[in-house]
Amino acid sequence: MSKANPVILVTGALGQLGTELIKTLRAYHGTERVIAADVRTPQPGCDFEGPFLHLNVLDKEALQDIVLGHGVTEIYHLAALLSARGEAEPLMAWNLNVDSLLNVLEVARQFNLRVFWPSSIAVFGPNAPRYKCPQETILTPTTIYGISKSTGEQLCQWYKIKYGVDVRSLRYPGLISSSAAPGGGTTDYAVEIFHEVLKNGSYECFLDADTNLPMLYMDDAVRGTIQLMQTQKEQLRYVAYNITGTSFTPKQLAGAISQQFAPVNITYAPDHRQRIADSWPKSIDDRAAQEDWNWQPHFDLDAMTAEMLKNLKGDRFSQLETESYADAIYSL
Ligand code: SER
Repeated sequence: MSKANPVILVTGALGQLGTELIKTLRAYHGTERVIAADVRTPQPGCDFEGPFLHLNVLDKEALQDIVLGHGVTEIYHLAALLSARGEAEPLMAWNLNVDSLLNVLEVARQFNLRVFWPSSIAVFGPNAPRYKCPQETILTPTTIYGISKSTGEQLCQWYKIKYGVDVRSLRYPGLISSSAAPGGGTTDYAVEIFHEVLKNGSYECFLDADTNLPMLYMDDAVRGTIQLMQTQKEQLRYVAYNITGTSFTPKQLAGAISQQFAPVNITYAPDHRQRIADSWPKSIDDRAAQEDWNWQPHFDLDAMTAEMLKNLKGDRFSQLETESYADAIYSL
């Protein structure tokens, strides 16, 4: 199969990023060319059309069978356990995040596949610059999730140097979207607040009012991912690029929702996730992505808030509010 006509496998397809990325990949390459795979089963009412396969990415043989059986040429490997859930289940986080990546990279090496794999701002720890955190800096993460992501970046780098595997990655900040909920992350508050405010008019935030974190609206994240994958590989200086939309605090987000919708009654009860948030940079320098592949976000805090309110206020909201955030832990 030529690069112009790829057959794409997306793991963790039912997660927050997979749900959105698949729609765009299918619009671009054709529904049948994009195979969704997840260890979970699509819920009734899930608007997933097109090929779906059950896959536990820790099962390398099953992965290999799918790649050979379907002539897969690219893998978007999104299955992962996020930061907060990772601290509760560190061994499982390491297993899922690192071992599954190794399976994907091995299969990519054997069958000459291209790979996209999401990294995270969690690769940075307290020793990295707090503001405008640069592309190249010290990586001393203090969460198992961050350690798994920084190790993953190094594995990707090694497979690229040693075997020439074309593997690309983005260090996503908190992703904000209205379709599938995130789960088990530290930045999840920025999605939860919309659901809770629309349901009850109030929200108890698990981070402090002034916790500033980098965020990215899903449309930008999807566009950036596709743009990175479409760039000529000679243009790419890095395996994993910093990327960001805008940074804000819970207080600022509540302010934007209050201004555009209705006054938000927000209270603050910081829990174990505060320590994780405090270990991450408050803003990100993504100039390398801008220079190498013309990255530019389109959504600032106000534009993102407007889109979230517009999407969630419709019929879809009544369906989403019954979903459990805690269920969506297996993929980004
Ligand atoms: N959104 C992720 C988390 O909160 C960070 O990459 O874990």
